[in-house]
Formats: sequence, C-alpha cells, structure tokens
Amino acid sequence: MSLFLCIFVSLLILPVSIFLAWRKLKNGHSNIKVPPGSGGWPVVGESFRYLSLGTQQFISEKRREYSTDVFQTSIFRQKMAVFCGAQGNKFVYTKLIKSWWPDTVKKILFDPEFSHILVDESLVIHHFVHEILKPEALKLYIPVMDAMVREHVELDWDGNEVVKVHPLSKKHTFSLACRLFVNEIDVQQVTKIFKHFVLVTSGMFSVPINLPGTAYSRGVKGGKLVREELEKIITRRRKELLEKKETSPCYTDVLSRMLLLTDENGKFMSDKEISNYIIALLVASYESTSTAISFVLKYLAELPHIYHEVYKELTNIAKLKGEGELLNWEDIQKMRYSWNVVCESLRLTTMNSSFSGFREVVTDVSFSGFTIPKGYKASWSSYTTHKDPECFPDPEKFDPTRFEGKGPAPYTYVPFGGGRRMCCGKEYARLEILVFIYNIVTRFNLEIVNPQEKIVFHSFPIPVEGLPIRITRHNIYS
Ligand code: HEM
Repeated sequence: MSLFLCIFVSLLILPVSIFLAWRKLKNGHSNIKVPPGSGGWPVVGESFRYLSLGTQQFISEKRREYSTDVFQTSIFRQKMAVFCGAQGNKFVYTKLIKSWWPDTVKKILFDPEFSHILVDESLVIHHFVHEILKPEALKLYIPVMDAMVREHVELDWDGNEVVKVHPLSKKHTFSLACRLFVNEIDVQQVTKIFKHFVLVTSGMFSVPINLPGTAYSRGVKGGKLVREELEKIITRRRKELLEKKETSPCYTDVLSRMLLLTDENGKFMSDKEISNYIIALLVASYESTSTAISFVLKYLAELPHIYHEVYKELTNIAKLKGEGELLNWEDIQKMRYSWNVVCESLRLTTMNSSFSGFREVVTDVSFSGFTIPKGYKASWSSYTTHKDPECFPDPEKFDPTRFEGKGPAPYTYVPFGGGRRMCCGKEYARLEILVFIYNIVTRFNLEIVNPQEKIVFHSFPIPVEGLPIRITRHNIYS
C-alpha cells in the first residue's frame, strides 16, 4: 500500500471511530432492546408528522409499522415510548407514576419558578386539589351549577331557533369555572380573562415556535395575561379576607380555601403561586368538559331514540321537583341512563384526539419484551382501546348499554385515565355535564342542522361550524 493510501485510510478511520464511540456513549442503551420506532429529524424529531397527522392517525401508523403494544418516537424534543391497548394502559397507570408535561406547554401555563405544578404529587396543594374535587365537597356546587345553567339558557338559548352549541358550551363552562374557582361573576371581567385564555388553549399544542405572529407565541402571551388578571383577583380577595370582608357565598369557591392553605412549614402561598394553580385548573377543566357537553348534545340531536330515553329519565326527575327548585345530589344519582350516554359519548370522542397523559420513566422498566430506559418519557391514548373492536364490539356504534351491568373490561374504558394520576376532576365533570344536559333536554327538542358538519382535531375535536342545532321549546307537563 502506498504511503498516501495509508494516510488516507487512517484519516478516515479516526473520525468514524470517534463518531461510533460518541453514538454509543450518547445512546448508552446499545445492549438493551428498546421499543421499535423512529427518532425522526434532528431536533424536531417526529413533531411535525405528529402535528400534521393528528394523534389517532399518528398512533395507527406507528402501530402498523412497529408494534401494536409499544413503540418509540421523538416528539416535544423527547424520546417517548407510547403504550397502547389495555395492557399498555394498565402498565402506565400502575408502574409509571411520575407525571410529565412538555416544556413548551409549561412555558405557556406557568411562571418558570412554578414549572413543577401538575407534576409533583408530594405537595400539600396536590392533596388539597384532590380534596376539593371529591364528591362530598362538590355536593355544595350542584345548586350553583344548576342556577348558572338556567341563567345561561335564558340568555343564550331561549328565543333562538338555532344555537351554535360548541361556542356556547365553552362560554358557559368558562364562566362556571370562574365562579367556582375564584368566585368571579362580573361578566366584563370574565370576558376579559376568557379573551386571553383562548390564546392559551389554542397555543398549547401548536407548533412550538416562539416567533411573533405564531399561535405558540400568542399562547405564551395569553398565559401571562391570564395569570396577571387572576393575580389581581387574588390580591383583592386576600385583602378582603384580611379585613374580614368576605361575603358569605365565597366559602364555596376554591380560591377562598387556597388563601387559607399553608404548606408543611405553616407558610401561606403567594398570590403568584395561587394564580399558577388556578390557571392549571382552568385549563384542565375547560376544553374537556365543554367538548364533552357539545358532543353529548350532538348525539342527542342526531339519535332520537337515545334522546327519548334521556328525556324520559330527566323529565321524571323534573316532575318531582317544585317550581324553580334547584337540582341536588339525590337527583344526580338518579341520572343513570343519562350518565351512560355521556360515557358512550366520551368513549367515541372527547379525549381520543390527543395523547391522554404523559409520564417520566424514572428507572429502566420492561414491557412486552422491550426495555424502556430511565429518562424516556411515556404516553398513552384512550383511542387505542376506545375504538378497538376487541374491547368495544362495533366500536363506531353509539350504544350506552355497554355501560350497564359489569360494563367494559378493566383498563379499556379510560377517558379519565387510571391509577394514582387519574383525573381528579371526574366528579366535577360528571356534575357539570349532567346538570347542563338536564336543563337542555327538559326544555328543548333538538335537531341537528348539518349532519355532515366536519370535525377537525386540535388536541380536542372541534365541529368547524360550531355545531348548530335547531331547538324547539317543549313543556314537560303537557
Ligand atoms: C370530561 C372531562 C374530563 C376529562 C375527559 C378529563 C381527562 C383527564 C385525563 C385523561 C387526565 C390524565 C390522567 C393521566 O395522566 O393518567 C386528567 C388529569 C387531570 N384532570 Fe381531568 N378530565 C376532565 C375534566 C377535568 C376537570 C373538570 C378538572 C378540574 C376541575 C380536571 C382536573 C384534572 C387534573 C388536576 C389532572 C391531573 C391529575 C394528576 O396529575 O394527578 N379534569 N384528566
């Protein structure tokens, strides 16, 4: 070999060896069998593919290509294992407890110093949130919820031939949350916060490019403005509390109790800290419940036989009540069929269009013959069981009887997740949705205006025309 060739080969071997050594070091998992999948492009990974396809199509494609149980991808700048099916759900709920949220989402929601919110379950506030959302605590809210829906119906439904259900359910859900979380009832103030808040929800799962004019940058700005408005309310309420000017109904709102909450060291939370918790609650409750309400009404307007059964159940309850008497806990317990209808609607729609939750893998774990290394993020989606014919025969059929008797098999019906990180707002959602449906069905017949209305998916399903429904007033006593 000529001297020239020797030098050339040595020069080639050196960088290749360095590259291979670097890759091994970086990977560190070369001798374990990680779930199959693709890392996508440098930096952005598969984020664009995920955002352009939507969660359902993205997951279906990956399951076909790699594995039906678990595959890996790279989104939100993280290596992520996506668990599928009932066994995958069970694994996430029971083995992966540490919750995780993408930094891009946290940047919109929180001040940097409070980025542990939603994740750290050892905090006093975490237990507090679970306590205030327990059925016993929520009983107090039922008459308030009922009174607010009645006002909403009088203002926005009565006197109209056609109503756009989706924007209306959003407006109502947000006003109710403002009342129950911070006792804010001033319409102008609620509207002002709402204007900033919609920027937050549309920015949260948009392409995370923080440049002027992008949905993401509007989201970051919106989050800051919402927290600022909330802080003003909190400061005012703290002052009133100190001057003992609290008016009586305030004890039912979450803020009144948060102001009195102390940590392990007896320290009260700052106004800023509270505003970060409240925005988390607003986000968790807003789109999930408003979308659920919209889609239950969509099914009721499309399926007269289902409407008829719900009508029978709810009017029986209404007829036993005095004029103007508000709903109570016992009434809600009688709404069994109506709740099954809500469950079936949740199965088919609400949470299926996004990842349902995120976790952090804190130690190497094994699942379905693969090892998921420490440091990976994990996710799951209710879509992988909710639309599976093995879990729900004839999955596209709307059939509330699936929830009668023993109901679906364990870990197959999971709109609220499961295990320790299961949604703590489930009961709040149940009450809010049932109270709303009660007030609509006992007043109106419903007819869908455009059965072909397109539904687009942006973390939640959105009817593009706002879900117009023709309403005719009826009298349950005639
Ligand atoms: C139909 C309505 C709702 C649905 C479908 C829903 C669904 C979910 C899901 C899937 C999770 C993630 C569970 C996991 O990671 O395993 C979750 C978490 C959570 N939800 Fe909901 N949710 C709803 C309404 C609400 C409401 C009304 C509130 C508050 C009032 C709320 C508060 C929360 C909170 C605080 C968490 C985090 C729990 C934790 O990390 O420990 N949700 N929800």
